[in-house]
Amino acid sequence: MERDEYLQIPGPTNIPPRILRSLSMPLINHRGPEFEALLKYCLKSLKKVFRTDHDILFFPSSGSGGLESAIVNFFSPGDKIVVACHGLFSERVALIAENYGVDVIKVNKEWGETVRSEEIGVVLKNDLNHEIKAVCLPQNETTSGITNDIESIGKMMKLSGHPALLIVDVVSSLACMPFETDLWGVDVAITASQKGFMLPPGLSMIAVGERAWKLTEESKLPKWYWDYKAVRAKMEEYQMPYTPPTTLLFGLKEALDILEEEGLENVWKRHSLMAEATRNAIKAMGLSLYAEAGYESDTVTAIHMPDGIVFKEFSNILKSKYGVVLGGGLQKLQGKIFRVGHLGSIHKLDIYAIMGAIEMSLFELGYPVELGTASKSISETFLK
Ligand SMILES: Cc1ncc(COP(=O)(O)O)c(C=O)c1O
Repeated sequence: MERDEYLQIPGPTNIPPRILRSLSMPLINHRGPEFEALLKYCLKSLKKVFRTDHDILFFPSSGSGGLESAIVNFFSPGDKIVVACHGLFSERVALIAENYGVDVIKVNKEWGETVRSEEIGVVLKNDLNHEIKAVCLPQNETTSGITNDIESIGKMMKLSGHPALLIVDVVSSLACMPFETDLWGVDVAITASQKGFMLPPGLSMIAVGERAWKLTEESKLPKWYWDYKAVRAKMEEYQMPYTPPTTLLFGLKEALDILEEEGLENVWKRHSLMAEATRNAIKAMGLSLYAEAGYESDTVTAIHMPDGIVFKEFSNILKSKYGVVLGGGLQKLQGKIFRVGHLGSIHKLDIYAIMGAIEMSLFELGYPVELGTASKSISETFLK
């Protein structure tokens, strides 16, 4: 029997059978010892993925909830923060902060362009009185398949002597790309369950460092559900203030074991290789990448729609004939690009299937490509 579907949107991702099985376990008492052991295990193991000694907090929420939680816990109305804006998700952070009356200084870039440390550095340098409380940006802007160099931004901020926090959205990059919370000087890192962790959506996970905890003392924005201090106090007892998503924690334990068994660095290498094979195959077929060269994402590849091909027709063929589901362009990129998610449970032979389906679907729609081009290119990448 054929595999049902290749869910190659940039998250939620394909869930490995081992995790699916763990998600069907009977529930346990979330105020009992089994839950405590589960939470303890997950937190210890998760610190290795975040590469941090910071506290880790959980929320039953999507990634956007995690982003909003950071805004309401660190800031007060009128506080100044810098937000990189170069895609739907980075702009969402600015929107959330503005909705709470935070004064947002935007570093605007075209969608598809990376945000350079110099561009943030200039804004911090001009802030002579050190009024800016934080710099917020994603490691991976999923909308356009672009990455930001968080390591160099962290280095620049440390050297600048500016006290702003570095808050990084790692929703579509953690457990996929190299990321070092502590080594890179990241104060707050926010992720969610449905991408690199290969889980259903519904769990956000946030690493909060010492400098950030200090800001929670000053924050005047209202909160109850998102209150980091209350959540930390309960999580120190290996409980949550409210009913936790226990099933997702069963899955998280399994996902963390899978990552540990492969080795996190091997996971990073695998993602990098899958991304390279995808990009090479795309270029071999005469298609062009949307993201700025040199900053292409290792978890999602954005590709210009070829002239004359309509995304809807293309994706209909992909799904109905081959069971492959890709992402379209969002908002202003709708109809202009398509996106291939290659994150989480993604392995060498999957790339042949996905790219082969793309090639055949485009061919059927009249796109001039020699059949077999993608698979030849993929083999060349893997045999290199
Ligand atoms: C980089 C990034 N940040 C934030 C989000 C928002 O997460 P969610 O859709 O889980 O709220 C996404 C979702 O794809 C994302 O890719």
